[in-house]
Amino acid sequence: MTRKHPFEPFRIKSIENLRITNRAEREVALKEANFNIFKIQAEDVMVDLLTDSGTGAMSSEQWASLMRGDESYAGSRSFDRLERVVDEIFGFKHFLPTHQGRASEGILMSLLVKPGNLIPNNTHFDTTAAHVLAREGIPENLLHDYSKNPSYDHPFKGNINLDALRQVLEKNTDMIPFCMITVTNNAGGGQPVSLANLEGLRKLCDEFSKPLFIDACRFAENAYLIQQREDGYSHMSVREIARKMFSLADGATFSAKKDAIVNIGGLLLMNDKELYENARNELIMHEGFPTYGGLAGRDLDAMATGLREGTEDDYLSYRTSQVAWLFDSLKDIGVPVFGPPGGHAVYVDAGSLLDHIPQSEFPAQSLAVELYLEGGVRAVEIGSVMLSFISPETGELVTPPLELIRLAIPRRTYTESHLQHVVDSFKAVVERKESLRGLKITKQPRLLRHFTCDFDWVENNEGIELSSLLSS
Ligand code: F0G
Repeated sequence: MTRKHPFEPFRIKSIENLRITNRAEREVALKEANFNIFKIQAEDVMVDLLTDSGTGAMSSEQWASLMRGDESYAGSRSFDRLERVVDEIFGFKHFLPTHQGRASEGILMSLLVKPGNLIPNNTHFDTTAAHVLAREGIPENLLHDYSKNPSYDHPFKGNINLDALRQVLEKNTDMIPFCMITVTNNAGGGQPVSLANLEGLRKLCDEFSKPLFIDACRFAENAYLIQQREDGYSHMSVREIARKMFSLADGATFSAKKDAIVNIGGLLLMNDKELYENARNELIMHEGFPTYGGLAGRDLDAMATGLREGTEDDYLSYRTSQVAWLFDSLKDIGVPVFGPPGGHAVYVDAGSLLDHIPQSEFPAQSLAVELYLEGGVRAVEIGSVMLSFISPETGELVTPPLELIRLAIPRRTYTESHLQHVVDSFKAVVERKESLRGLKITKQPRLLRHFTCDFDWVENNEGIELSSLLSS
């Protein structure tokens, strides 16, 4: 079926050459990386869908902003420009620039999370969960069961389960310093959260006197999906919807590497003055003076321009349609995809595509490896390699419910023919899916093993036992 790829609301002014590789070269690259996609050199990748974070293409206006950057240590004009845009888009009383999202999370958690605290969220992203765990807190994920079903159709599968949250709040109210919600829900299939759900969440937080923080990494894509999918918002602009979303919260963490389309940068935003003053002290210690955070003046300027461009309705229409184009094109050729399409990525249910490979032999890693071999396409495994752990309470292996790979689309970076190449590569892999083999881990570090562990085919060397997985 011929599908219409959305019209790109930009044209190309500067390009980066790609190296065209053949299968034999990719076999060598993969072997050298011990079958770990993270360890493949970028120049050996033809279409890189590992992440949409910091990998977007800046506009000519953003490059011009870099030149305009004011590198004064204190009170730079670039900060003033950023402040104007941040006030207009987010509307919180205070904010601090940081070098990226996890720095904002680190500061927030260091001030608010005490040992034994529970932090509810729809789904914590791994760095958010890690910062909660680092303070001996417990990250609690509260999604609806239907949101974990890849084929269940619901416009807002990122919604937090408010009934489950009420129970958690009633049972543990003294142990909960604040609630969080991630828009869009990256670790839960990139799914959006509705305004109705945010309003319900605000009410519940008020009832239990809890502050609410938004993990706002992909707030603009979430706001656009509200405009398109939720009754009563089609007449509002993305910026108006975003303002409404933020008006329901007490603060936010933000990685500008996503919806502000910059290569580096983040924000920590809040209304509470005392929290702001404490966070400012932490910032000075770890990131830098409050008018630059962990960034150069030029980075602040590019972020200001990117925030405006990343919240334009026409851009977001193209952006989300490109994701939907890839989603639909893969679905048409029989690839099981996690639906409906979200804002930044397509998630493929590798466990169901490769149902002859048991979970213990990492079907999603096998699919990621084969996709690379077939077309030089790099995707990330979000399955047992990344998410399994030994429970500290029971000593048993805990595995994720789904074995997925994520195809994250960098912003304004790839054209229709690049994505068609991804679809064609999938088609070839699907045709020979029965021949795909399982993998074994042969070496792994103590924590966050997916970044650095080594693999081999199951029938080759002896792998190491799954029970050698660490407790987290
Ligand atoms: N929260 C969410 C929902 C994220 O997706 C990320 C990063 C972060 C926080 C941390 O932000 O990278 O600027 O420190 N996600 C990237 C990804 C890494 O590939 O999805 P950061």
